[in-house]
Amino acid sequence: MTTVGQIIGGEYGELYIRQKAGQTIEIGELLSVGGNVILQVHDLGYQSLMEDDDLARISGMQLEGYDETTLMEEEIRNYINAKAKLLVHVKNGEAKIPKKLPPFFNRIKRVSEEHFEFLDEPENGLYLGKIRSGSRVLDVPVYIDGKKALSHHVLIPATTGRGKSNLVKVMLWNLIPKDYCGMLIIDPHDEYYGRNELGAKDHPEAQNKIEYYSPNPPKGGFSLRLNIDLLKPWDLRGIIELTSAQTDAMYVYHEEYKDKWLTDLFMSDEEEARRHGIQETTLEVLRRKLSLAIDVHRERSRVYCRSSIFTTRSNENMLNQIVDSIEMGKKIILDTSSMPQDKELLIAGMITNRLFNRYKRYKEKGELDGKPTVSVVIEEAPRVLGERAGRNVFHTIAREGRKFRVGLIAITQLSSMIPRELLANMNTKIILGNEMRSEREAIIGSVAQDLSKDSKNIASLDRGEAIVSSIFTKFAVPIKIDLFEDIARTKDKKNLMFFN
Ligand SMILES: Nc1ncnc2c1ncn2[C@@H]1O[C@H](COP(=O)(O)OP(=O)(O)OP(=O)(O)O)[C@@H](O)[C@H]1O
Ligand SMILES: [Mg+2]
Repeated sequence: MTTVGQIIGGEYGELYIRQKAGQTIEIGELLSVGGNVILQVHDLGYQSLMEDDDLARISGMQLEGYDETTLMEEEIRNYINAKAKLLVHVKNGEAKIPKKLPPFFNRIKRVSEEHFEFLDEPENGLYLGKIRSGSRVLDVPVYIDGKKALSHHVLIPATTGRGKSNLVKVMLWNLIPKDYCGMLIIDPHDEYYGRNELGAKDHPEAQNKIEYYSPNPPKGGFSLRLNIDLLKPWDLRGIIELTSAQTDAMYVYHEEYKDKWLTDLFMSDEEEARRHGIQETTLEVLRRKLSLAIDVHRERSRVYCRSSIFTTRSNENMLNQIVDSIEMGKKIILDTSSMPQDKELLIAGMITNRLFNRYKRYKEKGELDGKPTVSVVIEEAPRVLGERAGRNVFHTIAREGRKFRVGLIAITQLSSMIPRELLANMNTKIILGNEMRSEREAIIGSVAQDLSKDSKNIASLDRGEAIVSSIFTKFAVPIKIDLFEDIARTKDKKNLMFFN
């Protein structure tokens, strides 16, 4: 590889590199020094050995037609200064955090595939993309330990249209055949199954590994209808705003009537409410809120459901069926695209609650080891993790799920709306492009590696370009994610080994 520059100053975390005339260095580009240290460029600027006045004067003469004024030795006097940080030091085939500066004045070269021979595929490797140097993609696959990373939560932050959904499609596709992980994908845009386009259903193993639930399922899908008896007072926690008196009232009825608490709460009369120490107005408001949330109504001597999602008849076993499948390592896609947000979160919460409680029990009984890791994909995560969201099950998982090997894949355009403590708990961040400075700062403030100099780098990420910062990677790895359609189409050509 040709020399592209030389170290001419700086300090740890910010080396100054003089770009060689005729070469171009890009922001985000990876450079090699001494063959075993990799640098990453985070800023570029002009430098000149001449005084500003002289530069202005010479420019003036050139622009105004005094064309004899050529600059002597221009390529020596003017140059581009690249600021770079030490990314990784390779020692005995292993990645180390760099601890010392490379020799002053050392020549800098571009990286090539050979520089990444130290990267290997971990156990339960989950393929994310290929190494990217600026906008150049190297033929080096990047894997992360899927089992560990998924249980420690993954955050996918980016502005709209930068490729969050595409990344989840790629991850899902690669996870479909893997039994080490069960997934619940809450899909408010109905984009992952691929009802009318390429999607998870087109995977060769989809038949046995994918289950699709929708209020109006296509052939091969399941009808998503839940019996209201499945709803428990704690499912509403942090999903519907309730006062403590209203919450208490639910628990009182649940204590007394168990599975039939909701029916009885609707059938109950004033006298019964009073006997339970519940005020009439509390009961009335509670009923109104529940009616809105799950479309339950009372008609003389019976309680019925008007919604297409909840029912008073049949389907008592649906939640168990879904949770059983996840526990078998299957990937469950929940089409919530036709539901209002509160119903979506209520249903997603009901399933997630069951799932989480089951895994907690496994842990108590010492049976967790034999179980697959569980990953719950949630779009627009601040809806459930934000400061204003209540303490719901997603919140609990974000805080302590990893102890039970239940993790979130939280997708968001607004990381700043998620409390810092939860952001810091998301131990893998796959950062896509973001032009909002405040968002970049929220992300940078909570990552596993020091990205304090990478704000411009993140701002300049194009579609599908990302930085993976994780406690499971030695350094923040710049990657290019494949376009999902390319991966899924490769399968049509009977070439299933697309990613190796
Ligand atoms: N890795 C990639 N390589 C090439 N193109 C990509 C890649 N990822 C996404 N794109 C392109 O960008 C478009 C938008 O991507 P995607 O829907 O994944 O964005 P998003 O971040 O989920 O957006 P939104 O916030 O609107 O949900 C895709 O339709 C695709 O054309
Ligand atoms: Mg999307």
